[in-house]
Amino acid sequence: MEPLIAPSILSADFARLGDDVQAVLDAGADVVHFDVMDNHYVPNLTIGPMVCEALRNYGITAPIDVHLMVEPVDRLIPDFAKAGADFISFHPEASRHVHRTLGLIREQGCKAGLVFNPATPLSWLEHVIDDIDLVLIMSVNPGFGGQAFIESSLDKVRSARQLIDASGNDIRLEMDGGVKTGNIGDCARAGADMFVAGSAIFGSDDYAATIAAMRAAIAG
Ligand code: DX5
Ligand code: ZN
Repeated sequence: MEPLIAPSILSADFARLGDDVQAVLDAGADVVHFDVMDNHYVPNLTIGPMVCEALRNYGITAPIDVHLMVEPVDRLIPDFAKAGADFISFHPEASRHVHRTLGLIREQGCKAGLVFNPATPLSWLEHVIDDIDLVLIMSVNPGFGGQAFIESSLDKVRSARQLIDASGNDIRLEMDGGVKTGNIGDCARAGADMFVAGSAIFGSDDYAATIAAMRAAIAG
């Protein structure tokens, strides 16, 4: 699958969010990664469906990749679908009924993703591999931007790639946390095809140059 670069707006300028998101898309990004934190599942608090809807009303047309770091999960799904989300992903530990939650996301017309923390085993995939559109491997513990990339997550991506290929399903393999120009090539060679980068893109002086360097590193 064609590689997708998804800047995490956690590192954007929230005081001028619409402009900053448009700038990163104009600079060549493919997808908007939208981190939702509830100060309960993770120790930080960010943004909800109203902000997603505001970005749509502002004129953002790129796919929006909603990463839910919330507990409980289910009641936010219809709200995000209405607000314009394309992908909705959640952490299996945060849902009582993972299969039901995946179904709810697809029923709402969105692509459904499962997110794996560094210590979460891939065995959660075993019985739902036909019910998902996206596997997201966290290469940091969720909650904050700007953390250091956990190297062992590359092995996990390789394992996830094997499971996805064996399933024969059309499933994206996304990586999130500490991804930058210097390690994005390793992530691609391990099998990832969707790359979240927050601080590495929004913290750079030249979004277009950073995204171009990332694409070159992915292409190897
Ligand atoms: C962390 C979030 C990430 C984060 C990535 O909980 O899920 O999307 O914003 O930020 P960087 O790329 O700075 O690690
Ligand atoms: Zn994220």
